[in-house]
Amino acid sequence: MNRVIALPIKLLSATLLLSVTALAAPRTLEQVKSSGTLKLGTEAAFPPFNFYEGKVLKGFEVDLGDALGQSLGLKVEWVVQPFDNLLISLNQGRFDAVVASHAITPTRQKAVDFLPPHYCSAVNIVAKAGGPLTQKALAGKAVGTQVGTAQIPVLNAIPGIKEVRTYPNDQSILAALQAGRVDAWTSNGPVVAYMLKQTGQTGKILIGEAISNERNAAAVALGNTALHDALSGALAGLLKNGTYAKISDKWFGQDIRCK
Ligand code: ARG
Repeated sequence: MNRVIALPIKLLSATLLLSVTALAAPRTLEQVKSSGTLKLGTEAAFPPFNFYEGKVLKGFEVDLGDALGQSLGLKVEWVVQPFDNLLISLNQGRFDAVVASHAITPTRQKAVDFLPPHYCSAVNIVAKAGGPLTQKALAGKAVGTQVGTAQIPVLNAIPGIKEVRTYPNDQSILAALQAGRVDAWTSNGPVVAYMLKQTGQTGKILIGEAISNERNAAAVALGNTALHDALSGALAGLLKNGTYAKISDKWFGQDIRCK
């Protein structure tokens, strides 16, 4: 290629590469500290952990994330994305940590670095009264669950299920269950209990057997060690100094930390 043309092209591709790298690099603890703002990613459709009430982002994990920022002397900026995008966005540096009820799983541990869990919960089978409420009863049935969740491999390992259908969020699965498009729904117990109460379905739709027990945790990008350690230290402080207990009591009337 003609040198006169080649140079501008080289410069252009170098610039493009730089901007891609800048977006792709998660921020270090030092960079977060000097910016004064901690960016946290969440979904905002998983009540009462992270959800919108009108335009206000709320929930146990929102209060906890705000408290984590406060312990580190940082403002918190929330970034909301579909659940299925969150771990990819985390590793692309779109936010510094994710707080969206992820279960710690060996597969995810290869992709991100988890903090110690901020709560433990069961994933339950949910069905209309008279519907399938045990693993055995799921034989021949269609089950709805959220895309990208740890429930999917668990459901796939239960023999006899006719179909595991994925939905963008739990609200759409509840609607599918009510309309009879799926026979059962699986999600974390506290979320189901909250959503059934909110929609007046308690007693009409029932919470059945657990399919798994999870340790639910926040995470940082893989290898972001200094930030991981700073946030883990901050979480340990909140668990110890009564802040965690207060936030948990506000949302659940009890302390939901892992026993
Ligand atoms: N605990 C489940 C998982 O780890 C579901 C989490 C869903 N979280 C959410 N914000 N919708 O896959």
